[in-house]
Amino acid sequence: MLAHLLHLNGIESVVLELRDQDYVVQRVRAGVLEQGTMDTLREAGVGERMDRQGAIHEGIELRYDRAAHRIDFADLCGRAIMVYGQQEVVKDLIERRQADGLPLLFEVDDVKVDPDTAKVTFTQDGERQELDARAIAGCDGFHGVCRDAVPDGVLTERTREYPFGWLGILAEVAPSTHELIYASHERGFALHSLRSPQLSRLYLQVDPHDDIENWPDERIWEELHTRFEKPGWTLEEGPIVEKGITPMRSFLVEPMQHGRLYLAGDAAHIVPPTGAKGLNLAVADVRVLAEALTRWLHDHDESGLDAYSDTCLKRVWRVQHFSWWMTSMLHRFPDEDDIQRRLQRAELDYVTSSRAAATMLAENYTGMPYG
Ligand code: PHB
Repeated sequence: MLAHLLHLNGIESVVLELRDQDYVVQRVRAGVLEQGTMDTLREAGVGERMDRQGAIHEGIELRYDRAAHRIDFADLCGRAIMVYGQQEVVKDLIERRQADGLPLLFEVDDVKVDPDTAKVTFTQDGERQELDARAIAGCDGFHGVCRDAVPDGVLTERTREYPFGWLGILAEVAPSTHELIYASHERGFALHSLRSPQLSRLYLQVDPHDDIENWPDERIWEELHTRFEKPGWTLEEGPIVEKGITPMRSFLVEPMQHGRLYLAGDAAHIVPPTGAKGLNLAVADVRVLAEALTRWLHDHDESGLDAYSDTCLKRVWRVQHFSWWMTSMLHRFPDEDDIQRRLQRAELDYVTSSRAAATMLAENYTGMPYG
């Protein structure tokens, strides 16, 4: 996304990717784009397939005690979300990059970055290569090399591991719902999401150290039926074509920059998936970075780059809070006492009965306006 935004502003870049192209476009990730992300893709001319194949959603359902409560985004804040798989966004961006004939290198290995000189070295097809850049964008994820290239003592890291993970499945069955369902149940959280009219995406809260081998398909469906149970509503089953368990954490570094290295997305921060914010926060970062780099390289104005981290971190902390709040309200905690359980219930009752509280959820879920 960053490379494309820079290209639109007349700035050259080289994109380095560790994996091969097939892996990148097939890996199932999240699927909710907030309003600002949709707008960014459209404005950049890469939203055409999203508008054809994605689905606009104007609300979500919160389900607990076998009852449904709708949060109406359109009514509460006049905004919406788009359900469109992250790997579809990635596919569209790769296609555009390749159609533009611009450098996007796959299966690049052993990348070394120097934040002081903005020099990048890497191996491709067994050959060592060097790039003499003006700046480096570390968009290489939580396990990438860029964050580690910052000298010790510069970054402050903050991490919280949650005592649960999500078991996610992709099933070849028409979704049993038109809108996403976030369910809070005595046995744990469950989420019904969707990808297309024939493809459902569902999640179960599980022990983060659990082995997917312990979850044959029948057990997964049984648990989903239990947690989503509501009179008059049926969960349809279908062949499971993908399944896996992901741990959950909140993580971030401050500042998000050092020298001529600028971290963006998961390289700088991780949020638990309950608020569907990971990709959206990454897009927000690179919007700021593209604008700041452009002002520096075109107008010799460095103020945007100097403020990059501060600008991004305001949104990052807002989203950290929202993701933590959604997570805490909806999951079972292994060590929770009765008071904590009742407090969760009080929060759910508030969000589903007060317009002010529901608006707080709606404006955060659809994404706070850029500012
Ligand atoms: C998904 O569709 O994968 C998804 C949706 C909502 C979330 C997380 C994941 O909060």
